[in-house]
Amino acid sequence: MNNPDFVAFLRAYPSYPTTHIIDDLRATEYARLDVGEHVYLDYTGGGLYAETQVQRHHKLLSEHVFGNPHSSNPTSLAATQLVQHAREYVLKFFNASADEYDVIFTQNASGALKLVGESYPFAKGGHYLLTFDNHNSVNGIREFAHAHGAEVTYIPVALPDMRVDASSLDDYFARGQKGAHNLFAFPAQSNFSGVQHPLEWIEKAHAAGWDVLLDAAAFAPTNYLDLSKFKPDFVPLSFYKMFGYPTGVGALIARKEALGKLHRPWFAGGTITVASVQGDKYYLAEGHTAFEDGTPDYLNIPAVEIGLKHIESIGYDVIHTRVKCLAGWLLDNLTQMKHSTGEPLVRLYGPTTTEARGGSVAANFFDKDGEAIDHRFIESEANKVNISLRTGCFCNPGAGEVAFTISRETLVGGEFGEGMTLDDYVRAIGLPSGGAVRASLGLASNAADLERFAAFASRFVDLAAVPDDLPPRVGC
Ligand SMILES: Cc1ncc(COP(=O)(O)O)c(C=O)c1O
Repeated sequence: MNNPDFVAFLRAYPSYPTTHIIDDLRATEYARLDVGEHVYLDYTGGGLYAETQVQRHHKLLSEHVFGNPHSSNPTSLAATQLVQHAREYVLKFFNASADEYDVIFTQNASGALKLVGESYPFAKGGHYLLTFDNHNSVNGIREFAHAHGAEVTYIPVALPDMRVDASSLDDYFARGQKGAHNLFAFPAQSNFSGVQHPLEWIEKAHAAGWDVLLDAAAFAPTNYLDLSKFKPDFVPLSFYKMFGYPTGVGALIARKEALGKLHRPWFAGGTITVASVQGDKYYLAEGHTAFEDGTPDYLNIPAVEIGLKHIESIGYDVIHTRVKCLAGWLLDNLTQMKHSTGEPLVRLYGPTTTEARGGSVAANFFDKDGEAIDHRFIESEANKVNISLRTGCFCNPGAGEVAFTISRETLVGGEFGEGMTLDDYVRAIGLPSGGAVRASLGLASNAADLERFAAFASRFVDLAAVPDDLPPRVGC
C-alpha cells in the first residue's frame, strides 16, 4: 500500500512496520479473511484462530486415543496428562507461580465468574464493590451478594474518557468493614470503551483489606498479564477471545489463598474425595478439582496450550504494538470525519488517544443536524459489505448508561413489562440511544481492514435519510 493515507499512518505510527510478522501470518494463517473479503472488527467478541492451531489439534486427536480422565486406564491417563499439562502451561504463560496460583478450567469467563459469585463468602457486613464499567457476568455476581446480605456499591466512570476518578477510590475502599469479606471487581480492559483501568488498583485494594477480581477477558487477547507483578485473587478469562479456538473453554486463575475462602454451594462428579448417600455427607477435593464439575472438556483443553504457544510464537510486544498503532489510526480517522456543516460524524465513548486504552472503540454516528443515526442501520450497512462489527451495549449496561447519559431515575422508573419488546422499553423510558457501534481490533488486524472501514464510515457523511424499517432490537 502506497496511498497517501497509509504513508501518513506510517509517519504517525512509525512502530507499525516492526509488526510485519503479522502481515506474513495474515497471508498464511489467516488467509481465509482475505479470500472471503472479510473485514473482521469484532475481536472483543471473539478472537480468530490460526490455521495451524486447528491442524495441530486435529493431528493430536487423530494420532491418539483419549478417554474420560476420571479413571486410571491408559487412555484416561493420557487425557489426564494433557489436561494437567495445559493447566501448568496456563500458569507459565501468565508467569504465575504454581505455589501461589491455581487454574480451574471453566466453560468461559462467565463460568469462571459464576464460580466466584456463588462461592464467595458474601454475608451481612461484607461488600461487593465494582465499577459501572463491567460485563454483565461481573454485574451478575451482585445477585449472590444481595442474596447473602452483603452491600453492593458501584463506582461510577465519567465521560468523556469513561474512566474512574482515581482520587475517589480510597473512599470506596474505606467502606469495607474490617474482618468482613469484601470483594472488589473491575475489568483490566473495558469491553465497551476500551479503557484500561490501572492494575495498580489491585495492591491498593489488597492493602485496604479487599479481595480482587480482575476481569481479564477483554485485556488478555492483546496485552500481557504478568501475574508475578500484579496479583489479583481471581482472574476470569475465555480462551476463544485470546486465540479463537477452541470455544467452550475458559479459566478461573485464582490465588490459592483466595480459593481457600470459597465455599462451593454443591458438589458434583469429579469435585469430591468422598460422598455418601446414607451418611448425607461429602468431602470436597483440594484446589482446582473441587471447582471443575463433572468431566472437563478434555479433548478441547489441549488446544488451549496450542493457542497459548501460538501467541508466544508471535509475542505480546508485537501484538500489542500492532493493535495500538491501528487503534490510534482508527481513532484519528473517526474523530476527523465531519459533515459539510462542520458537525462531527462520530462521537466516541472513551479515550480518543491510545494512552491507557486497548483496541476496542465504541461510538455512535450522527447526521449533519446532530441527530444519532441508529446503530442498527450502521450494522446492516456494514453487513452488506462484509464488515463484521458489533452493535448494542455489549453486555456492559453500566458503561452504556454513562455513555448515553441515562440517569438512575429514568431506569428506576421504567419496568421492562410482560409482552414488551426491547424497542417498546427504549421508547417508554425515553432513551436517547439503545446502543452504540463497536469496532475492535486484534491479533490479525491490518491497515487494509481499517482503510476499508474508513471508506465505509465516510459513506455516512452528509447522509440524507435513514430508513425506518430497522430490525427489532433483540438484546443489550
Ligand atoms: C470484559 C468481559 N468480561 C467477560 C466476558 C464474558 O465472556 P464469555 O461470554 O466468554 O463468558 C466478556 C465477553 O465479551 C467480556 O468482554
